[in-house]
Amino acid sequence: MTHPLAQRFDGATEILAEIDARIPDTRDHLAETRATVDAYHPKRLQLVVTEIIDETPTTKTLRMQGLDQAALPPFSAGQYVNVFVDGTSRPYAISSSPTQRGHYDLTVRRVPGGRISNLLIDTVVIGQILTTSGPMGTFHHNPLFHGNDVVFLAGGSGVAPAMSMLREIADLGLDRSLHLIYGSRHASDVIFRAELDALAAAHPGITVDHVIAEPDADWTGATGYLTADTIAALAGELNERMVYVCGPQALYPYALDQLTALGQPRKRIRFEANGAPSDPTAQPHWPIGVDPTEEVTVTVSGASFRTPRNRPLLDAMEDNGIRPEAACRSGECSLCRVRVVKGEVHTAEEAKMRLSDARFGYTHSCVAYPISDVELDL
Ligand code: FES
Repeated sequence: MTHPLAQRFDGATEILAEIDARIPDTRDHLAETRATVDAYHPKRLQLVVTEIIDETPTTKTLRMQGLDQAALPPFSAGQYVNVFVDGTSRPYAISSSPTQRGHYDLTVRRVPGGRISNLLIDTVVIGQILTTSGPMGTFHHNPLFHGNDVVFLAGGSGVAPAMSMLREIADLGLDRSLHLIYGSRHASDVIFRAELDALAAAHPGITVDHVIAEPDADWTGATGYLTADTIAALAGELNERMVYVCGPQALYPYALDQLTALGQPRKRIRFEANGAPSDPTAQPHWPIGVDPTEEVTVTVSGASFRTPRNRPLLDAMEDNGIRPEAACRSGECSLCRVRVVKGEVHTAEEAKMRLSDARFGYTHSCVAYPISDVELDL
Protein backbone atom coordinates (compact mmCIF):
# COMPACT_ATOMS: atom_id res chain seq x y z
CA MET A 1 0.00 0.00 0.00
CA THR A 2 1.29 3.48 -0.82
CA HIS A 3 2.28 5.44 2.27
CA PRO A 4 -0.03 8.53 2.70
CA LEU A 5 3.00 10.84 2.81
CA ALA A 6 4.09 9.72 -0.63
CA GLN A 7 1.29 11.76 -2.21
CA ARG A 8 2.01 14.92 -0.25
CA PHE A 9 5.73 15.49 -0.82
CA ASP A 10 8.04 15.17 -3.78
CA GLY A 11 10.67 12.62 -2.92
CA ALA A 12 8.70 11.18 0.01
CA THR A 13 8.90 7.62 -1.35
CA GLU A 14 12.70 7.80 -1.51
CA ILE A 15 12.91 9.32 1.99
CA LEU A 16 10.65 6.62 3.47
CA ALA A 17 12.77 3.93 1.81
CA GLU A 18 15.89 5.54 3.28
CA ILE A 19 14.32 5.59 6.75
CA ASP A 20 13.41 1.92 6.41
CA ALA A 21 16.93 1.06 5.37
CA ARG A 22 18.73 3.08 8.00
CA ILE A 23 16.74 2.90 11.18
CA PRO A 24 14.83 -0.34 11.36
CA ASP A 25 15.73 -0.39 15.03
CA THR A 26 13.72 2.77 15.76
CA ARG A 27 10.77 1.43 13.81
CA ASP A 28 10.88 -1.83 15.76
CA HIS A 29 10.69 0.12 19.03
CA LEU A 30 8.28 2.81 18.02
CA ALA A 31 6.38 2.96 21.32
CA GLU A 32 9.56 3.28 23.39
CA THR A 33 10.96 5.90 21.01
CA ARG A 34 7.70 7.83 21.16
CA ALA A 35 7.66 7.71 24.98
CA THR A 36 11.22 9.07 25.15
CA VAL A 37 10.48 11.85 22.66
CA ASP A 38 7.28 12.77 24.53
CA ALA A 39 9.10 12.91 27.87
CA TYR A 40 11.61 15.43 26.55
CA HIS A 41 9.41 17.25 24.05
CA PRO A 42 5.82 16.92 25.22
CA LYS A 43 3.21 18.52 23.03
CA ARG A 44 1.20 19.62 26.06
CA LEU A 45 1.85 20.02 29.79
CA GLN A 46 -0.67 20.47 32.57
CA LEU A 47 0.92 22.79 35.12
CA VAL A 48 -0.47 23.99 38.42
CA VAL A 49 0.22 27.54 39.61
CA THR A 50 1.89 27.17 43.02
CA GLU A 51 3.01 30.75 43.62
CA ILE A 52 2.33 34.20 42.21
CA ILE A 53 5.15 36.68 42.78
CA ASP A 54 4.53 40.43 42.46
CA GLU A 55 7.61 41.71 40.65
CA THR A 56 6.62 45.30 39.86
CA PRO A 57 3.29 47.14 39.80
CA THR A 58 2.73 45.80 36.26
CA THR A 59 4.50 42.43 36.36
CA LYS A 60 3.89 39.09 38.02
CA THR A 61 5.74 35.80 37.93
CA LEU A 62 3.61 32.66 37.81
CA ARG A 63 5.48 29.71 39.34
CA MET A 64 4.15 26.46 37.94
CA GLN A 65 4.77 22.79 38.73
CA GLY A 66 3.72 19.51 37.16
CA LEU A 67 0.57 17.97 38.60
CA ASP A 68 2.54 15.02 39.95
CA GLN A 69 5.37 17.30 41.14
CA ALA A 70 7.79 15.22 39.02
CA ALA A 71 10.71 16.92 37.28
CA LEU A 72 9.56 18.95 34.29
CA PRO A 73 11.10 18.48 30.83
CA PRO A 74 14.55 20.03 30.51
CA PHE A 75 14.99 23.30 28.67
CA SER A 76 17.74 25.66 27.60
CA ALA A 77 17.86 29.10 29.22
CA GLY A 78 16.09 31.46 26.83
CA GLN A 79 13.39 29.04 25.69
CA TYR A 80 9.64 29.59 26.14
CA VAL A 81 6.45 27.65 26.71
CA ASN A 82 3.26 28.46 24.88
CA VAL A 83 0.35 29.08 27.29
CA PHE A 84 -3.10 28.04 26.00
CA VAL A 85 -5.87 30.21 27.39
CA ASP A 86 -9.16 31.71 26.31
CA GLY A 87 -9.24 30.02 22.92
CA THR A 88 -5.80 31.21 21.91
CA SER A 89 -2.21 30.95 23.12
CA ARG A 90 0.82 33.12 23.89
CA PRO A 91 4.48 32.22 24.24
CA TYR A 92 6.18 33.26 27.50
CA ALA A 93 9.91 32.88 28.14
CA ILE A 94 10.83 30.79 31.17
CA SER A 95 12.62 33.07 33.64
CA SER A 96 13.68 30.38 36.11
CA SER A 97 16.97 28.54 35.85
CA PRO A 98 17.18 25.35 33.78
CA THR A 99 18.83 23.79 36.83
CA GLN A 100 15.47 24.00 38.65
CA ARG A 101 13.44 21.21 37.07
CA GLY A 102 10.75 21.27 39.76
CA HIS A 103 9.06 24.37 38.36
CA TYR A 104 8.93 26.85 35.52
CA ASP A 105 8.58 30.56 36.24
CA LEU A 106 6.74 32.64 33.65
CA THR A 107 7.11 36.38 34.07
CA VAL A 108 4.15 38.26 32.62
CA ARG A 109 4.05 42.02 32.14
CA ARG A 110 0.75 43.80 31.63
CA VAL A 111 0.54 45.03 28.05
CA PRO A 112 -1.92 47.94 27.80
CA GLY A 113 -4.93 46.49 25.97
CA GLY A 114 -3.25 43.07 25.79
CA ARG A 115 -5.97 40.45 26.13
CA ILE A 116 -3.87 37.56 27.44
CA SER A 117 -1.33 39.40 29.62
CA ASN A 118 -4.18 41.18 31.44
CA LEU A 119 -6.13 37.96 31.79
CA LEU A 120 -3.16 36.10 33.26
CA ILE A 121 -2.29 38.92 35.65
CA ASP A 122 -5.85 39.64 36.77
CA THR A 123 -7.49 36.23 36.92
CA VAL A 124 -4.95 33.45 37.50
CA VAL A 125 -4.99 32.16 41.09
CA ILE A 126 -2.86 29.73 43.06
CA GLY A 127 -4.00 26.17 42.40
CA GLN A 128 -5.21 26.95 38.88
CA ILE A 129 -4.13 24.50 36.20
CA LEU A 130 -2.80 25.93 32.95
CA THR A 131 -2.11 24.05 29.75
CA THR A 132 1.17 24.83 28.04
CA SER A 133 3.36 23.41 25.33
CA GLY A 134 6.67 21.85 26.26
CA PRO A 135 9.69 24.18 26.25
CA MET A 136 10.67 25.30 22.79
CA GLY A 137 12.38 28.02 20.78
CA THR A 138 15.79 28.74 19.35
CA PHE A 139 16.66 31.85 21.39
CA HIS A 140 19.12 30.19 23.72
CA HIS A 141 22.84 30.27 24.29
CA ASN A 142 24.98 28.01 22.13
CA PRO A 143 28.60 28.29 23.27
CA LEU A 144 29.86 26.77 20.02
CA PHE A 145 28.37 29.51 17.84
CA HIS A 146 27.90 32.37 20.31
CA GLY A 147 31.12 32.15 22.30
CA ASN A 148 31.36 32.68 26.03
CA ASP A 149 31.28 36.45 26.12
CA VAL A 150 27.90 37.88 25.20
CA VAL A 151 25.89 41.08 25.53
CA PHE A 152 22.12 41.06 26.14
CA LEU A 153 19.97 44.10 25.34
CA ALA A 154 16.62 43.76 27.12
CA GLY A 155 13.56 45.94 27.37
CA GLY A 156 10.65 45.41 29.77
CA SER A 157 9.73 41.76 30.27
CA GLY A 158 12.32 40.90 27.61
CA VAL A 159 14.58 40.47 30.63
CA ALA A 160 12.91 37.07 31.36
CA PRO A 161 15.14 34.92 29.11
CA ALA A 162 18.22 36.88 30.29
CA MET A 163 17.22 36.12 33.89
CA SER A 164 17.15 32.41 33.12
CA MET A 165 20.60 32.64 31.48
CA LEU A 166 22.04 34.59 34.41
CA ARG A 167 20.57 32.22 36.99
CA GLU A 168 22.09 29.30 35.11
CA ILE A 169 25.53 30.94 35.07
CA ALA A 170 25.28 31.50 38.84
CA ASP A 171 23.86 28.05 39.65
CA LEU A 172 26.48 26.15 37.67
CA GLY A 173 29.40 28.55 38.14
CA LEU A 174 29.76 28.67 34.35
CA ASP A 175 32.85 30.25 32.87
CA ARG A 176 30.76 32.65 30.78
CA SER A 177 30.47 36.43 30.61
CA LEU A 178 27.06 37.98 30.13
CA HIS A 179 26.63 41.75 30.14
CA LEU A 180 22.97 42.68 30.53
CA ILE A 181 21.99 46.19 29.43
CA TYR A 182 18.40 46.53 30.54
CA GLY A 183 16.21 49.44 29.49
CA SER A 184 13.08 50.45 31.44
CA ARG A 185 10.90 53.52 31.46
CA HIS A 186 10.97 54.13 35.21
CA ALA A 187 13.18 52.65 37.94
CA SER A 188 10.03 51.12 39.44
CA ASP A 189 9.50 49.14 36.19
CA VAL A 190 12.78 47.22 36.55
CA ILE A 191 11.92 43.54 36.97
CA PHE A 192 14.20 41.38 39.19
CA ARG A 193 16.24 44.46 40.14
CA ALA A 194 17.47 43.24 43.54
CA GLU A 195 18.38 39.77 42.25
CA LEU A 196 20.06 41.14 39.12
CA ASP A 197 22.21 43.48 41.18
CA ALA A 198 23.07 40.70 43.66
CA LEU A 199 24.05 38.34 40.82
CA ALA A 200 26.29 41.00 39.32
CA ALA A 201 27.94 41.67 42.67
CA ALA A 202 28.56 37.97 43.35
CA HIS A 203 29.70 36.68 39.96
CA PRO A 204 32.65 38.11 38.04
CA GLY A 205 31.20 37.03 34.67
CA ILE A 206 27.91 38.87 35.22
CA THR A 207 27.52 42.59 34.55
CA VAL A 208 24.18 44.38 34.81
CA ASP A 209 23.46 47.95 33.75
CA HIS A 210 20.04 49.51 34.09
CA VAL A 211 19.15 52.28 31.65
CA ILE A 212 16.17 54.39 32.70
CA ALA A 213 14.32 56.51 30.14
CA GLU A 214 12.46 58.73 32.63
CA PRO A 215 14.56 58.73 35.78
CA ASP A 216 13.68 60.27 39.12
CA ALA A 217 16.01 62.95 40.48
CA ASP A 218 17.83 60.42 42.69
CA TRP A 219 18.66 57.96 39.86
CA THR A 220 22.45 57.69 39.47
CA GLY A 221 22.72 55.07 36.70
CA ALA A 222 22.53 55.36 32.93
CA THR A 223 19.59 57.26 31.45
CA GLY A 224 17.79 57.54 28.13
CA TYR A 225 17.37 54.76 25.59
CA LEU A 226 19.58 51.91 24.37
CA THR A 227 21.39 54.15 21.90
CA ALA A 228 24.66 53.29 20.16
CA ASP A 229 26.45 55.74 22.45
CA THR A 230 24.95 54.19 25.59
CA ILE A 231 25.72 50.63 24.45
CA ALA A 232 29.30 51.63 23.60
CA ALA A 233 29.75 53.47 26.90
CA LEU A 234 28.52 50.50 28.94
CA ALA A 235 29.71 47.47 26.96
CA GLY A 236 32.82 48.98 25.34
CA GLU A 237 33.95 47.62 21.97
CA LEU A 238 31.60 44.84 20.89
CA ASN A 239 34.41 43.14 18.95
CA GLU A 240 31.86 40.87 17.33
CA ARG A 241 30.63 39.55 20.66
CA MET A 242 27.21 37.96 20.16
CA VAL A 243 24.43 40.38 21.09
CA TYR A 244 21.01 39.04 22.12
CA VAL A 245 18.01 41.37 21.91
CA CYS A 246 14.67 40.75 23.61
CA GLY A 247 11.91 43.23 24.39
CA PRO A 248 8.92 44.96 22.91
CA GLN A 249 8.63 44.89 19.15
CA ALA A 250 9.65 48.52 18.74
CA LEU A 251 13.03 47.70 20.29
CA TYR A 252 14.05 45.45 17.39
CA PRO A 253 14.45 47.85 14.44
CA TYR A 254 15.80 50.46 16.87
CA ALA A 255 18.41 48.10 18.34
CA LEU A 256 19.39 46.91 14.86
CA ASP A 257 20.06 50.51 13.78
CA GLN A 258 22.09 51.23 16.92
CA LEU A 259 24.15 48.04 16.70
CA THR A 260 24.72 48.51 12.98
CA ALA A 261 25.99 52.03 13.70
CA LEU A 262 28.51 50.40 16.05
CA GLY A 263 29.72 48.14 13.22
CA GLN A 264 28.13 45.00 14.66
CA PRO A 265 27.59 42.42 11.87
CA ARG A 266 23.98 41.28 11.51
CA LYS A 267 25.02 37.65 11.98
CA ARG A 268 26.29 38.50 15.47
CA ILE A 269 22.87 39.81 16.58
CA ARG A 270 20.10 37.44 17.76
CA PHE A 271 16.55 38.67 18.14
CA GLU A 272 13.98 36.77 20.15
CA ALA A 273 10.88 36.35 18.02
CA ASN A 274 8.17 38.56 19.47
CA GLY A 275 4.79 38.43 17.83
CA ALA A 276 3.29 39.42 14.53
CA PRO A 277 4.24 42.84 13.14
CA SER A 278 2.05 45.53 14.70
CA ASP A 279 1.75 47.25 11.32
CA PRO A 280 2.14 44.84 8.39
CA THR A 281 1.43 47.67 5.96
CA ALA A 282 4.74 49.27 6.91
CA GLN A 283 6.59 46.40 5.28
CA PRO A 284 7.89 47.15 1.80
CA HIS A 285 6.02 44.37 0.02
CA TRP A 286 2.54 45.21 1.40
CA PRO A 287 0.65 45.80 -1.87
CA ILE A 288 0.28 49.47 -2.75
CA GLY A 289 -3.21 50.94 -2.46
CA VAL A 290 -4.73 48.03 -0.52
CA ASP A 291 -6.87 49.16 2.43
CA PRO A 292 -5.70 47.15 5.47
CA THR A 293 -8.99 47.58 7.34
CA GLU A 294 -11.27 46.35 4.58
CA GLU A 295 -12.80 42.92 5.19
CA VAL A 296 -12.25 39.88 2.98
CA THR A 297 -13.66 36.36 3.12
CA VAL A 298 -11.49 33.52 4.44
CA THR A 299 -12.56 29.93 3.80
CA VAL A 300 -10.90 27.18 5.86
CA SER A 301 -11.83 23.54 5.42
CA GLY A 302 -15.28 24.51 4.14
CA ALA A 303 -16.08 27.16 6.82
CA SER A 304 -16.11 30.83 5.78
CA PHE A 305 -15.82 34.05 7.77
CA ARG A 306 -15.04 37.72 7.21
CA THR A 307 -11.96 39.40 8.68
CA PRO A 308 -10.02 42.61 8.07
CA ARG A 309 -6.91 42.34 5.93
CA ASN A 310 -4.65 43.47 8.77
CA ARG A 311 -5.66 40.63 11.11
CA PRO A 312 -3.17 37.73 11.05
CA LEU A 313 -4.80 34.62 9.62
CA LEU A 314 -4.06 32.63 12.79
CA ASP A 315 -5.89 35.19 14.98
CA ALA A 316 -8.75 35.37 12.48
CA MET A 317 -9.13 31.59 12.51
CA GLU A 318 -9.07 31.51 16.32
CA ASP A 319 -11.68 34.29 16.40
CA ASN A 320 -13.90 31.87 14.49
CA GLY A 321 -13.23 28.79 16.60
CA ILE A 322 -10.63 27.23 14.30
CA ARG A 323 -7.47 26.34 16.26
CA PRO A 324 -4.50 25.22 14.21
CA GLU A 325 -1.41 24.18 16.18
CA ALA A 326 0.72 27.23 17.02
CA ALA A 327 3.52 28.20 19.39
CA CYS A 328 5.81 31.18 18.69
CA ARG A 329 3.16 33.33 16.94
CA SER A 330 6.11 35.11 15.34
CA GLY A 331 6.69 33.23 12.10
CA GLU A 332 9.53 31.13 13.43
CA CYS A 333 8.41 27.68 14.59
CA SER A 334 6.33 26.84 11.48
CA LEU A 335 3.69 24.97 13.52
CA CYS A 336 0.89 27.19 12.19
CA ARG A 337 1.61 26.48 8.51
CA VAL A 338 -1.42 26.53 6.24
CA ARG A 339 -1.66 25.97 2.50
CA VAL A 340 -3.08 28.82 0.46
CA VAL A 341 -5.33 27.07 -2.02
CA LYS A 342 -6.77 30.25 -3.57
CA GLY A 343 -6.31 33.99 -3.24
CA GLU A 344 -3.51 36.38 -2.29
CA VAL A 345 -1.78 36.46 1.10
CA HIS A 346 0.81 38.91 2.43
CA THR A 347 3.41 36.94 4.39
CA ALA A 348 5.36 39.22 6.73
CA GLU A 349 9.15 39.41 6.69
CA GLU A 350 9.18 37.71 10.10
CA ALA A 351 8.19 34.34 8.59
CA LYS A 352 11.07 31.89 8.55
CA MET A 353 9.81 30.11 5.46
CA ARG A 354 11.39 27.01 4.04
CA LEU A 355 11.94 26.76 0.30
CA SER A 356 9.41 23.93 0.27
CA ASP A 357 6.80 26.22 1.87
CA ALA A 358 7.00 28.63 -1.03
CA ARG A 359 7.15 25.84 -3.56
CA PHE A 360 4.02 24.09 -2.31
CA GLY A 361 2.06 27.24 -1.44
CA TYR A 362 2.32 27.20 2.37
CA THR A 363 2.52 30.23 4.64
CA HIS A 364 2.89 30.78 8.39
CA SER A 365 -0.57 31.90 9.39
CA CYS A 366 0.55 33.79 12.53
CA VAL A 367 2.29 36.39 10.35
CA ALA A 368 0.24 36.12 7.16
CA TYR A 369 -2.56 38.49 6.11
CA PRO A 370 -5.36 37.91 3.59
CA ILE A 371 -5.13 40.47 0.79
CA SER A 372 -8.03 39.06 -1.27
CA ASP A 373 -10.70 36.47 -0.50
CA VAL A 374 -8.68 33.37 0.31
CA GLU A 375 -9.18 29.65 0.69
CA LEU A 376 -6.90 27.75 3.08
CA ASP A 377 -6.13 24.12 3.75
CA LEU A 378 -5.03 23.15 7.29
S1 FES B 1 3.08 29.87 15.48
FE1 FES B 1 5.20 29.61 15.06
S2 FES B 1 5.36 30.13 12.95
FE2 FES B 1 3.31 30.58 13.46
